[in-house]
Amino acid sequence: MTNHSVLMSSPEYFKVEYSINPWMVAGVEVDLDLAKEQWNNLKESIEAAGATVEVVPPSEKHPDLVFTANSGILNGKDVLIANFKYEERRGEEEIFANWFEENGYNVGRIPSEYKFEGRGDAFVYGEYLVGAYGIRSDKEALLYIADEFNLTPVIVELVNEKFYHLDTCFQKLPTENNDAIFYPKAFKDESLSEFSQFFNLIPVTEDDANQLACNAVVVNDTVILPSDGIEVANKISELGANVVVANVSEFLKSGGACQCLVIALD
Ligand code: ARG
Repeated sequence: MTNHSVLMSSPEYFKVEYSINPWMVAGVEVDLDLAKEQWNNLKESIEAAGATVEVVPPSEKHPDLVFTANSGILNGKDVLIANFKYEERRGEEEIFANWFEENGYNVGRIPSEYKFEGRGDAFVYGEYLVGAYGIRSDKEALLYIADEFNLTPVIVELVNEKFYHLDTCFQKLPTENNDAIFYPKAFKDESLSEFSQFFNLIPVTEDDANQLACNAVVVNDTVILPSDGIEVANKISELGANVVVANVSEFLKSGGACQCLVIALD
């Protein structure tokens, strides 16, 4: 088992007080005790799968800080911090930048006019930058990052407000053959032809997509899905991955599930 590490942020102040995506109903009640329990369970599942978990302290003013996936994009020890689309989350940028700086990363920024929401919309895949634009992140941001990190951009467009980040509708699996699950209707090109030369694409149903099935965390050969009753779970097991469920229903109220709550540090 490889010893990976990931970054999370504890949910003490998690709530849904504004709405910046269709999942969020401002002021909807969140069961904070349950949210904490679900978050701890996810953390334990990640540890059981073989990763260590670093934690950014929570901030009362930033209820969405729990979604560390959006902090930025990492390439080794270099990190480019997010430029959040919505004012409500912009204060998180400094918190994440400070954490990365204090922990020995080379922290950079991209031009402020380019919106970019981190691992939510892009990740490094070998010599490629795989990314999506159209809702939260700008294409220019992805091209800028690819250039900074010396990567070839492989970029697609998102068109469905409900699936507003790439990680809400696409996830690479830890199985052979570069398998990846995706929700076709989230993408402008439903066949995802741009990705098909890199990934063996496995579509999920609308029902699975609505449970944020693609927002699964992958650690070593384990895939952590956000709820029971996800149809594609069997297929993922058949392909050889170890499937685990960490129910994060309280976080779905904010439009996030397992992968949103995590960013891989290596
Ligand atoms: N409420 C957060 C937002 O709308 C959820 C972020 C989910 N993160 C993700 N990587 N998909 O910004």
